[in-house]
Amino acid sequence: MTLLMGTGEVLSHKKYGEHYHALTIVAPEIGESVRPGQFVNIQCGEGTAHILRRPFSVYRVHKRGGWASTIEIVFDIRGPGTKHLSSLRAHASVDLVGPLGRGFAMPSKRAHCLLVGGGIGSAPLFFLADELRNEGHRVDVILGARTAGLLLNQIDARRLASVCRICTEDGSAGETGRVTDLLEETMERCKTEIVYTCGPHPMLAAVSRVAMDRDLPVQTAVEELMACGYGVCMTCVMPLRQKRHGGKEAEAEYVYARSCTEGPVFDGSQVIWDGTTPSSTEAVSVDQSELSPAGMPTRHDFPPEPADEHAPPGN
Ligand SMILES: Cc1cc2nc3c(=O)[nH]c(=O)nc-3n(C[C@H](O)[C@H](O)[C@H](O)COP(=O)(O)OP(=O)(O)OC[C@H]3O[C@@H](n4cnc5c(N)ncnc54)[C@H](O)[C@@H]3O)c2cc1C
Ligand code: FES
Repeated sequence: MTLLMGTGEVLSHKKYGEHYHALTIVAPEIGESVRPGQFVNIQCGEGTAHILRRPFSVYRVHKRGGWASTIEIVFDIRGPGTKHLSSLRAHASVDLVGPLGRGFAMPSKRAHCLLVGGGIGSAPLFFLADELRNEGHRVDVILGARTAGLLLNQIDARRLASVCRICTEDGSAGETGRVTDLLEETMERCKTEIVYTCGPHPMLAAVSRVAMDRDLPVQTAVEELMACGYGVCMTCVMPLRQKRHGGKEAEAEYVYARSCTEGPVFDGSQVIWDGTTPSSTEAVSVDQSELSPAGMPTRHDFPPEPADEHAPPGN
């Protein structure tokens, strides 16, 4: 994959609700090649607070046949980097590198896909939903947050999904509770065959557990702290448990994989979510080609296509 580095131009800056900012950036080459789940690394201003680029998932892409394709990122203001980004307006220049990392794998056959997002972590799921729908897959969504203001673009989520369930922990929008409270019932009702998720770690761990209990493939996009963003510094490693090549399930081996190059999308059933590995685990990174593809659907035997009972509007 070609890594593109260059300057984009801000086309627009808008706000989603009270908290989230969205920048649409003209970045033709990245826009043409980026896949859902990949990210861009952005230089967020000058000075010591901004030495490191900050990673952002690509939220939406608008392809314009190469000459003016745009990418959109969404963020909340956390520190100096995102504060700087929130000050940018149309025509500002943005120094960015991308597309980076390994994105979500698409199902190999028509499938019922459940997308589960928490807060701002839902960002890459919107681009994914667009692509899944373009390929003819069914998309269902569970979108959750602590409170209504932290839900990311629920109007768009409803538009994209056949079934869209919204929940907040304080009950200020949708159903009261966490995404995991709605998970099993939604999987049952929507005949889910593959789960995609992005959000806080405890949520990713819980979603992975439920999917694994049902023997469903689950792809998780993690947001580890990153320094370099291209595989050199090892800041972003995740412990994984993998079946040995040609070995039995019991013969697992433990590896550390870099979120920025082998991830950020991992097979949720391989991630050791509580971080505990046997003391013998070597801190080695693995070559990307040695990881089982995050797109486990290839090992998943999809049943025959059912009738499309909940075709999303516009599908
Ligand atoms: C692959 C990837 C994709 C991401 N996509 C998005 C996105 O689409 N939208 C978005 O708003 N943010 C996203 N993030 C997180 C984003 O990179 C950080 O919010 C950003 O670096 C903060 O920069 P800052 O200078 O504003 O704050 P900093 O001063 O760098 O950090 C402010 C606070 O946020 C914490 N923080 C920074 N990065 C992370 C992180 N990755 N996870 C948890 N806490 C963190 C810091 O520890 C600190 O407490 C993503 C991160 C990764 C790794
Ligand atoms: S951020 Fe440096 S190796 Fe991943």
